[in-house]
Amino acid sequence: PAPGWAIEADVVVVGSGVAGLTTALRCAAAGLSTVVVTKARLDDGSTRWAQGGIAAALGDGDTPEQHLDDTLVAGAGLCDEEAVRTLVTEGPDAVRRLIATGAHFDTSDAGEIELTREGGHHRRRIAHAGGDATGAEISRALVEAVHASKLRTIENALVLDLLTDAEGRTAGITLHVMGEGQHDGVGAVRCPTVVLATGGMGQVFSATTNPAVSTGDGVALALRAGAEVSDLEFVQFHPTVLFLGTDSEGQQPLVSEAVRGEGAHLVDASGIRFMVGQHELAELAPRDIVAKGIMRRMQEQGAAHMYLDARHFGAEMWEQRFPTILAACRAHGIDPVTEPIPVAPAAHYASGGVRTDLHGRTTVPGLYACGEVACTGVHGANRLASNSLLEGLVFAERIAADIASRAPREAGRPVVPATPSVLPLIAPEARAEIQRIMSEGAGVLRSAESLTVAAEALAAVHRNAVNDAAPDGRGAAKTAEPGVESWETSNLLCVARVLTAAALEREETRGCHWREDRPDRDDAEWRRHLVVRLAPDRS
Ligand code: SIN
Repeated sequence: PAPGWAIEADVVVVGSGVAGLTTALRCAAAGLSTVVVTKARLDDGSTRWAQGGIAAALGDGDTPEQHLDDTLVAGAGLCDEEAVRTLVTEGPDAVRRLIATGAHFDTSDAGEIELTREGGHHRRRIAHAGGDATGAEISRALVEAVHASKLRTIENALVLDLLTDAEGRTAGITLHVMGEGQHDGVGAVRCPTVVLATGGMGQVFSATTNPAVSTGDGVALALRAGAEVSDLEFVQFHPTVLFLGTDSEGQQPLVSEAVRGEGAHLVDASGIRFMVGQHELAELAPRDIVAKGIMRRMQEQGAAHMYLDARHFGAEMWEQRFPTILAACRAHGIDPVTEPIPVAPAAHYASGGVRTDLHGRTTVPGLYACGEVACTGVHGANRLASNSLLEGLVFAERIAADIASRAPREAGRPVVPATPSVLPLIAPEARAEIQRIMSEGAGVLRSAESLTVAAEALAAVHRNAVNDAAPDGRGAAKTAEPGVESWETSNLLCVARVLTAAALEREETRGCHWREDRPDRDDAEWRRHLVVRLAPDRS
């Protein structure tokens, strides 16, 4: 759609989690005129929901090298070691700078940052806040810093497309703003630098820990703009999500790995600890192994869920250390102090995304990606718990430094959309169908057969929209109305199709990509990344 209004800036940051707000604050501090656009309110993204914490080698005796080793093991051979080294060596100071920005972490009586353990970590290395409300505290501190700064913010704004100049370099974005008065409807921010920090795509599945805003908008935009996207098949399913029934859809309450880090046990209905003997770290094995352990036990027993037993924590520890989880469980009629918590895996994190270098640059000049939307290479085939907030922080700082070091672009270049906007638009009614197809065919358990069925069903959703968009005998078309819900649904279909194609292409089990028909890793043939770049006219 043609923009009805336009503003100018040096940089636009799309998204307002830890990655987006840190990038924006650092760009503004470097004197760049910076605009943050975000789809809902500033604190509505995934960061706010992070429980366990942020991993960094801050403890006595811990080192970046040990953090690197744990990250590489979890990543199952597909991490970019240089990217991981950057993450773990720059991480501790990035956390200290976050504290200087105003975030308060839990500390001991002696004032030391308290550290907990999570899956795949061989040491206590996870800093947390408010017990189990780490993301909420980080979000609070960053939003306050934004309010205290001169940053311009546009809330309730869905990003649509990238604008480019005649040489194919970034020239801004188009966006749809809902009800903000000054900038309503479809408009544009014209600028030579765009940072995508739009978060993940958990809403592509029926049950996820992600909030409603996580609809893959950044990856879909990047694909439409011709940027490279990598590793989309690696969707991490969090092992312990509160089980609310097989028909429960949308965002589900997370039960943090930190609960297992503090000693909770995974048990079946008979109270047997089934992870013991499966891995040396038992319940604290890397996330893919625990998710598989749970799924296998569920299959063997025909059960819809397993249990997390932390009754031995007692009421006081539950109240002080895990107040958020305690409240969520009790709100659903489960009291973890007196009964085991029913849990099952649900979609949690996209390890892949828009491919970047170590400075967050994508393959489109002037377009950067940061946080969950990006694929920097630090997560490989399976992200290590609590590395994502750290990735957002570390790479945000690197991106801001890179942008600030670039010569300002000459103004007044002609601007054209990089691609036509999404065509055909997918009607919002198709969203539940897309989610069902993905959960059934491309969920925790995948096979060539399930993925082929999913790919065909998704293609049919696309075909129906194409047919609807074609004029009938009387010249009328039933095309979906342009609007936020149809654009989001179009983005969901776009990322679902690419994800499914990548999952079909990777004919091995690796990290969080579990092929039941090919249950083993195939190091000889398949140690490589699947990189996708769509021709510019594809949607
Ligand atoms: C959790 O608290 O279990 C989630 C941490 C993460 O996903 O990194």
